Amino acid sequence: MPVASRRAALVPAAGFGVRLGDVASAAARQPKAFRTLAGTSLVHRCAEVLLELCDEVVVAVPGTYLDLAREDLGGLGPNVRLVVGGADRQESVARALAVADADAEVILVHDAARPLVPHDVVRRVLDALDAGAPAVVPALHVADSLRHLRADGGSAPVDRSLVRAIQTPQGFRRTLLERAHAAGLGAGVTDDASLVERLGVPVTLVEGDPLAFKITRPLDLLLAEAVLAAQR
Ligand code: CTP
Ligand code: MG
Repeated sequence: MPVASRRAALVPAAGFGVRLGDVASAAARQPKAFRTLAGTSLVHRCAEVLLELCDEVVVAVPGTYLDLAREDLGGLGPNVRLVVGGADRQESVARALAVADADAEVILVHDAARPLVPHDVVRRVLDALDAGAPAVVPALHVADSLRHLRADGGSAPVDRSLVRAIQTPQGFRRTLLERAHAAGLGAGVTDDASLVERLGVPVTLVEGDPLAFKITRPLDLLLAEAVLAAQR
């Protein structure tokens, strides 16, 4: 019987959440990942769901908030570890990857800003990896009509059925993700799948979930609060 690969989840949580932008509130002085929804921080929610399916979770946090992170995540036990994040998301992921359990062959990367990601999305990503895909991302249809901006200042419609919005967790064979981060081809990428693709490796799409939406602006926090209230 094959032995299941060990899995580590990396959670980049070292951003400050500038676009949340409600600087007038005391809570806003905490980095986005430590803002709370119904009393539980975004990053705590992420770590909990990832621990259901992964052997360890490595969280990259701002160096100035290590104490807060220890306090917030300490109760989840020794399989949640902290690392100081970097100047951008990619560097935060690279730092977490560098300290992930050496035996972990499968790596998930999940934004702390997606605290309501359902267990089933994590499961689908892992299943596709187990089935042999080297890189897997959850994808969603886009509801808005889209336009592509042209260099001449004009714009042109995009066939919505041919695009997808990409979520996290994204999953990778560890060696591939390490190669992608080492290759130094990261200029302008916003996720790890794009980095891997620059090595010429195809990315497999699995079904995402609207609940895995990213908290970016104040409206997103309100939406997440409403979702949790409806679930109670
Ligand atoms: N992130 C990180 N390290 C950074 C910047 C971002 O780990 N130096 C993380 C964020 O904490 C977040 C994820 O990357 O979980 C996605 O980034 P985003 O939603 O852009 O979060 P922020 O960068 O915090 O928000 P903003 O861009 O509005 O400041
Ligand atoms: Mg950002």
